[in-house]
Amino acid sequence: MTRTAVVAPGGWPVIGHAWPMMRDPVRFTGSLAGLGDLVEVRLGPVRALVPCHPDLLWQVLTDDRVFDKGGPFFDRVRATIGNGVGSCPHAQHRRQRRLIQPAFHHARLARYAEVMGQEAAALASGWRDGQVVDVYPALFGAALRTALRCLFTTRADDAAVDRMRRSVETLLHQITARMFVPGLLQRLPVPVNRRFDRALADLRRDIDTLVADYRRGDGDRGDLLSSLLSARDEDGSGGLDDAEIGDQVLTMLVAGSDSVAATVSWALHLLDRHPDAMAALRDEVAEPARRTDLPRTDLPRADLPRADLPRADLPRADLPRTDLPRTGRVITEALRLYPPGWLFTRITTEEVELGGRRLPAGTTLAFCPSAVHLRPDVHDRPDAFDPDRWLPERTRHLPRGAFVAFGGGARKCAGQEFGLTESSVLLATLLSRWRLRAAAGSDTRPVALSTALRPRRLLLEVGGAA
Ligand code: HEM
Repeated sequence: MTRTAVVAPGGWPVIGHAWPMMRDPVRFTGSLAGLGDLVEVRLGPVRALVPCHPDLLWQVLTDDRVFDKGGPFFDRVRATIGNGVGSCPHAQHRRQRRLIQPAFHHARLARYAEVMGQEAAALASGWRDGQVVDVYPALFGAALRTALRCLFTTRADDAAVDRMRRSVETLLHQITARMFVPGLLQRLPVPVNRRFDRALADLRRDIDTLVADYRRGDGDRGDLLSSLLSARDEDGSGGLDDAEIGDQVLTMLVAGSDSVAATVSWALHLLDRHPDAMAALRDEVAEPARRTDLPRTDLPRADLPRADLPRADLPRADLPRTDLPRTGRVITEALRLYPPGWLFTRITTEEVELGGRRLPAGTTLAFCPSAVHLRPDVHDRPDAFDPDRWLPERTRHLPRGAFVAFGGGARKCAGQEFGLTESSVLLATLLSRWRLRAAAGSDTRPVALSTALRPRRLLLEVGGAA
């Protein structure tokens, strides 16, 4: 470990910086840039360097051979969901990514958007005037069902979906927190560990059932599970065994559900705090609601941060334009202020220079989007909710690495387009049907050390149909 990195204040023996991260992960990781471009924090007993400058973060994200997946976060992820595409080391990654990529092909998005629209409409029509909704769990259920239906073309019954929702929630709640707990304590047969183990066993069993049902089904359905089952290595040999397929399925469910639910929850929270932005968005989404009750497949493609951002690793220029650009900007701004993936780790596989410092092999790094997203020299008035900062004319000056809510390089989120579209569909559908206002009893502080950054309890009162 370099001796010259600035050390973040507030670390404790054993638990490291768990306490300030629990109190406010965004503020804590966002404040690190004020200390330096490369700042040392303690993830439990492990020292980790946080790149706070966009150039350094970009180097870490894009040189994925040297800055490999590893360190305390991915050690816990692997122990939980195995060695799927999101957690496997560089040596296995290209093969896995090639095998799952067809399921995320742009051309499939129209079909996915249809399912997203149906689930969003089902959620909105289940609400009643005057009802108070705890928004995150509701969105999480919709996102998990969407992932199941889009990626696995399955008709999982409601009881199974609900069971899986609870299992995924339990796992996601604990994976990050476990970084701060010594391994021995995680094996003690206390209730919190038993809940975790049971959730994992239940989920594995549900996924095995899903895969077995699929194998009995009628051939290639053109979705992720079909492509995984028929996957062969480049030389035509091999393929994925059931355990590997289970890991990929688990990865998709874990990666693709709470991230979307958290994004939309934060967007609703921010809009509630900014009535002008809410009014402007309601104007934009009003039109689709008048035209049809059923969500349209051409519904929101987010007006993503422009592809012509200089060197920015942002969505491609050939994506179709949306008819709901403001919705896309609100989602992007929510992702900047509250990135659901707020902490990931890397480990160096060889000695490397970063920001003028030599890091030995085995150095742990932490990728925290807020460390860059909240820098005043990268984003003007970084604490302000300003969706229009994503207007094309205002994004031209942004450096690469300025917006990393989806990561970057070869390990960039495989579901970025999927996640942005689904978030926009959910937000637009809900706001085109209902007026939503924060209700008493909300606690919008982030859940302490949750894997996805999400509000503890966002209660919204459902008001007269829009
Ligand atoms: C708004 C929603 C989402 C956000 C903010 C998000 C964020 C991220 C981030 C930051 C990473 C990179 C982690 C790292 O570098 O260590 C990632 C990876 C990944 N995400 Fe997402 N994600 C979202 C939605 C989804 C969805 C919907 C899916 C699938 C249905 C998905 C599947 C994946 C996969 C498979 C990876 C691993 C990619 C690889 O290593 O090749 N994500 N995501």
